[in-house]
Amino acid sequence: MIIRPATAADGDFLADMLVEAVNWSTEWKRKSKRRVLGAPDTAHYVAGWPRDGDLGVVAEAEGDAVGAAWLRFFPLEDPGYGFVAADVPELTIGVAAAWRGRGVGRALLNAVEARARTAGLRRISLSVERRNFAHRLYLAEGYEAVGAGSPDSDTMVKVL
Ligand SMILES: CC(C)(COP(=O)(O)OP(=O)(O)OC[C@H]1O[C@@H](n2cnc3c(N)ncnc32)[C@H](O)[C@@H]1OP(=O)(O)O)[C@@H](O)C(=O)NCCC(=O)NCCS
Repeated sequence: MIIRPATAADGDFLADMLVEAVNWSTEWKRKSKRRVLGAPDTAHYVAGWPRDGDLGVVAEAEGDAVGAAWLRFFPLEDPGYGFVAADVPELTIGVAAAWRGRGVGRALLNAVEARARTAGLRRISLSVERRNFAHRLYLAEGYEAVGAGSPDSDTMVKVL
């Protein structure tokens, strides 16, 4: 597995990984890519990729993209679910189902954080439902809950 910077050509794959992130729970009816990209509150995580300030990484295995993690800044008037401030980018991460539980997600998280540090960023935020095991991954990687986005989810921040 290799991890490389995400490029302008990765927009469609990032959209696929956004669909995975939205559909993290197998208990819910799966939302289609069309629906995810048709809803402004989810589409804005990838719309127009790459925008100024966007930064991401893609994991590839056997020549195929298998996961991605990226950061995007949101303005106060169009916040993401994990919004804390306009100068703190929000993380999205997804790994193709067949590749989960093998360390790809943690490697992507560490790689996007390293790129963020190099870019001079100080903080990263995200939103995660507490029942998602990703919540434990984020805690283990130094993210701290700074508030509840909803009764079931936390907004978390990592200071880089
Ligand atoms: C969350 C996600 C990105 C993590 O990537 P991953 O490659 O599966 O995770 P990793 O293999 O790097 O494992 C990270 C930690 O989660 C744990 N983990 C992995 N799969 C797990 C599972 N099915 N159940 C419980 N814990 C699990 C691992 O044990 C690991 O912790 P450890 O190394 O201390 O044991 C990936 O599972 C995914 O895309 N899920 C669906 C989308 C999603 O939830 N995105 C995040 C929305 S906030």
